[in-house]
Amino acid sequence: MKKRRTSELMRSFWDSKARENALYYVSSYRPYDEQDPEEFWKWGRILAERFLGESQIDFTGEETVLEIGCGIGRMTAYFSERFRRVDGIDVSPEMISQAEENLAEYGNVGLHVGNGCDLSNFDDSSFDFVFSYITFQHIPDPRITAGYIREAGRVLKTGGHFYFQVNNMPRSIRSVLRIRSRGATLLNKLRRREEREATAVTGPRDLDSPAWQGSRTTVPQIDQACIAGGLKILSLEGEGSQYLWIKAIKQP
Ligand SMILES: C[S@@+](CC[C@H](N)C(=O)[O-])C[C@H]1O[C@@H](n2cnc3c(N)ncnc32)[C@H](O)[C@@H]1O
Repeated sequence: MKKRRTSELMRSFWDSKARENALYYVSSYRPYDEQDPEEFWKWGRILAERFLGESQIDFTGEETVLEIGCGIGRMTAYFSERFRRVDGIDVSPEMISQAEENLAEYGNVGLHVGNGCDLSNFDDSSFDFVFSYITFQHIPDPRITAGYIREAGRVLKTGGHFYFQVNNMPRSIRSVLRIRSRGATLLNKLRRREEREATAVTGPRDLDSPAWQGSRTTVPQIDQACIAGGLKILSLEGEGSQYLWIKAIKQP
């Protein structure tokens, strides 16, 4: 798929999901029609705090931070209290417009609509810390994720950290063969599901879109992108799982 088409697909998918039920598509933890805003915001803070702790980075609180795929600001809100300044970028104008409403009271937050592929909104060496969670796993092409990793290296100051999560689940040959042999059955199932979804009053839709299904990013892809972005990998936690966390530092 061409980059521009992928970019348009990601934008229209996430825009429509933000309008439909932003809380559910940001955090599908609770059932679709049982969203609890208080719990949603509480968990944004709990998770952000946990990830910062797990990163084992010595923060002073004076850092400038960039969050890639900030959604409606669930974790951005916490970062704004913890750091000097935070900028959030997202491919979806609708997510960003809801984040602007949600974070209107916070004076040290900048929210930006990006093109879904790079960080051209920002200058070189402008952040101390770049963070991303459950965003790269939804990007349909790992080359776009690799591009973001290079870009994170560009916008980080020397000595700054990039802490991010990708999907690194293995896709075994057996599972590929199984998928092929069951192709016809699957197609029928998908058709039936589409029919059901089209007539359903409430419930998640379009979850077979490449903009939701996303892609896996491999360790060699991450390695190469880090080298190209002037980043040195300091740790990799959760290899082979949906939650591979990478900590990298910008080299002089
Ligand atoms: C599951 S939500 C998570 C939001 C936020 N990270 C959080 O945990 O609260 C994924 C977010 O990534 C954004 N996103 C998806 N593809 C993106 C891309 N290529 N570039 C930037 N943002 C993207 C979506 O619009 C959505 O807001």
